[in-house]
Amino acid sequence: MELFDREQTFVITATVSDSKITHSQYASLCLKDAIVDQFQEKFGARPNVDKRNPDLIFNLHIHKNTAVISLDASGGSLHRRGYRQESVEAPIQESLAASIIDLTQWDGERTLIDPMCGSGTLLCEGLMRYCRIPAAYLWENFGFMYFPDFAPEIWQQVKAEADAQIRALPEGLIMGSDAAKLAVKAARINLGQLPYGKEVVVRTSRFQELEPISNAVIVSNPPYGVRLGAQAEAAALVGELGSFLKHKCTGSTAYLYFGDRELVKKIGLKPAWKKPLSNGGLDGVLAKYEMY
Ligand SMILES: C[S@@+](CC[C@H](N)C(=O)[O-])C[C@H]1O[C@@H](n2cnc3c(N)ncnc32)[C@H](O)[C@@H]1O
Repeated sequence: MELFDREQTFVITATVSDSKITHSQYASLCLKDAIVDQFQEKFGARPNVDKRNPDLIFNLHIHKNTAVISLDASGGSLHRRGYRQESVEAPIQESLAASIIDLTQWDGERTLIDPMCGSGTLLCEGLMRYCRIPAAYLWENFGFMYFPDFAPEIWQQVKAEADAQIRALPEGLIMGSDAAKLAVKAARINLGQLPYGKEVVVRTSRFQELEPISNAVIVSNPPYGVRLGAQAEAAALVGELGSFLKHKCTGSTAYLYFGDRELVKKIGLKPAWKKPLSNGGLDGVLAKYEMY
């Protein structure tokens, strides 16, 4: 009651592990009852649960019979940046793409290129990094806005200060391409949600047909197959990618995220380093290659 009033809606997300309570749904039901009973006793009326669009989200985390109840200040998963309007098969999660871009330590000195850009997640995250676009720039609704001590004027000031840091993207600094026309369309739409996203040139081309790329930072997430036939196809394509990098990308550095760790062996290049990266159901590896 100190945290919210009965006109506001709420929902509970629960996780349980290694505890006497084994069902997260049961655990969230107990917390829901505890909350509404308090209101009912005091006011004779109770706040409603709204699973789709709640004002407040309570996270209940039970581990080894100890429960921690927290109020979600974000109001949803922050990996959803809000730019993904269109998707393709096997897009990577925005936060995974952000980590990959971070690990490249790309600083805008060289052109950033994704020659298999799919829906453009790596391009969007590269753009956000260079232009200093805050991760939740497109969000309008946060959990903390429903807290009783929320001060809109302080929020507006903090947001204005962060937005003032956003800088323009120099022409041609970020480029992408993909063999599939629909992927290129999706990438353009997604990039278009972000400031300066329309400055990113995305075109339809197989990487095998691209003109030579020199002194660039190449970052990409090649297709990986789950079925047997698709696995062989993915392995052959990675072999072609290795040859493209070696012969047509001299002076460049490539960072490739393989959704299937076995694919690293098929590229025919010696990695400078490899880092296992798991996220959003993917258990892959990021490998760095220097092409001299
Ligand atoms: C795993 S998806 C990339 C997903 C992307 N990272 C995203 O988040 O949307 C691999 C992409 O490679 C593209 N592709 C496959 N063969 C290609 C080729 N020879 N040249 C360029 N792109 C290719 C596919 O069209 C697909 O969009």
